[in-house]
Amino acid sequence: MKPKEIANNIYYTGVNDRRKDLFENLWPLPAGISYNSYLIDDEKTALIDTVDVCYSDVFLQKITAILNGRQLDYLVVNHMEPDHSGSIRLLRQLYPDVQIVGNSKTFGMLAGFYGITDGLQEVKEGQTLSLGKRELSFMMAPMVHWPEVMFAYDKLSGTLFSADAFGTYGTLDGGIIDEELNISLFMEEMIRYYANIVGKYGSPVQKAIQKASAFDIQTICSTHGPVWRKYIAEAVGAYERMSRYDADCGATILYGSMYGHTEQMAEVIASAISAGGVRNIALHNLSKSHASYVLKDIFKYKAVVVGSPTYSNRLFPEVESMLHKIETRDVKDRIYACFGSFTWAGAAVKQLAEFGHRMKWELVGNPVEQKQGITLETFEACTQLGTDIAARLQAQ
Ligand code: FEO
Repeated sequence: MKPKEIANNIYYTGVNDRRKDLFENLWPLPAGISYNSYLIDDEKTALIDTVDVCYSDVFLQKITAILNGRQLDYLVVNHMEPDHSGSIRLLRQLYPDVQIVGNSKTFGMLAGFYGITDGLQEVKEGQTLSLGKRELSFMMAPMVHWPEVMFAYDKLSGTLFSADAFGTYGTLDGGIIDEELNISLFMEEMIRYYANIVGKYGSPVQKAIQKASAFDIQTICSTHGPVWRKYIAEAVGAYERMSRYDADCGATILYGSMYGHTEQMAEVIASAISAGGVRNIALHNLSKSHASYVLKDIFKYKAVVVGSPTYSNRLFPEVESMLHKIETRDVKDRIYACFGSFTWAGAAVKQLAEFGHRMKWELVGNPVEQKQGITLETFEACTQLGTDIAARLQAQ
C-alpha cells in the first residue's frame, strides 16, 4: 500500500509508536508518539528525516513502496536525536548512493553515532537544494532543542519541515493532517511535550519562529504529531507563548508529604485560592504525580506553590528532585509561594524560599511553616497565603 500523499508529491513515511512506555526513557506515553518522516518525489527524490530504529522495517517498506525501484537521491537530516536518526544506517545500506544533507554539526553527530563520514552534502543558512520542479531552502534552528537542528522549506507547496518544533506526544490514529484528527488531545499533549523536551530553550524557539515567519507557510511537517495545516496558528501560537513562559491564570501546587501534615496545608491553600475565584488549580502529590505532568502544569499556570516537610535536614527527596527539573528548564516569570512542616528542626521552608529566589520568581504572601500537626494559627496562615495568591493572580 502506498503511503499517504499529504501534499503534491510529498508522502508521509512516518510511524506510530504504541509500545514504548517512556519517551527518552523518562516521559510517559499514555497516548503513544509518532516519529514523522516525509518523502518528496520530484525529479530527484528526498527523504526528510528517518524514524526510531525499532520501526525501521515498516519505515523502509513505505519508502520502497513509493520509490518503486527508483533511487533515493537525498536524505535531509534536520535533527540527529536517535528517535529520528535511528534508521539512517539501515537506510544507507538499502540506498548506498544516497547523499546525506545536513550542517557541520549534523555531520559530527553522524560520525559519532553511526560512523558515517562519506556521501555528505553540507548546507548552510539560506542555501538551497534543487530537486527539479522544487527546491528546498535551509534555515538553521540551533538549540531547538539540539545544536544541529535545522528546518527545510519547500516554496512550491509552502511546506516547512520543522524537526521537533511544533511537535507533540500522541500517535496519529487514522488521520495524519490536523483537519483529519481531533486536535484537542494534541494541543494538551503539546504543552507536556514542550515542557518535558524543549522547555529550557525558550529563546532559541523564539528566534526560530521569528526566522520561519519570513516564509509563506501553508503546511508544517513536524517530526512528532499531526501535520499542521488548518491549525497552524494554534500550533505556532502555543509554541510561541510557551517560549515566552507566558501562562494562564492558575496555580500548580506541588508538595511532598510523609504522613499528610504538609498535604493538609496544601488543601487549605488550594481552598483559599479557589475561594478567591481562581478555577485552574492543579495539586500534585510528588510521590504520586509523574514529573512530566507537573512540568506541564508549571508551563500552563502562572503561580507555582511548593510545599515540603523537612527530611534529614533537607527537602523531601521527591520535592528536591522536582525543583531540580524546574530549575533545569529555567522557567521564568512565575509568581511563587511556599510552605512546609517539620517535627523537631525546620529546614525545608528556608530552602524553598531560597529556590524561589534563585528562580527570580515573585514571592507572594508569607511562607508558612508548621511544627508537627496543623494548628488554628497555621490554618489561618495557609488561608491567608491562598487568598494572597488568588488576589495576585486576579490582578494580572
Ligand atoms: Fe524527537 Fe529531539 O527528538
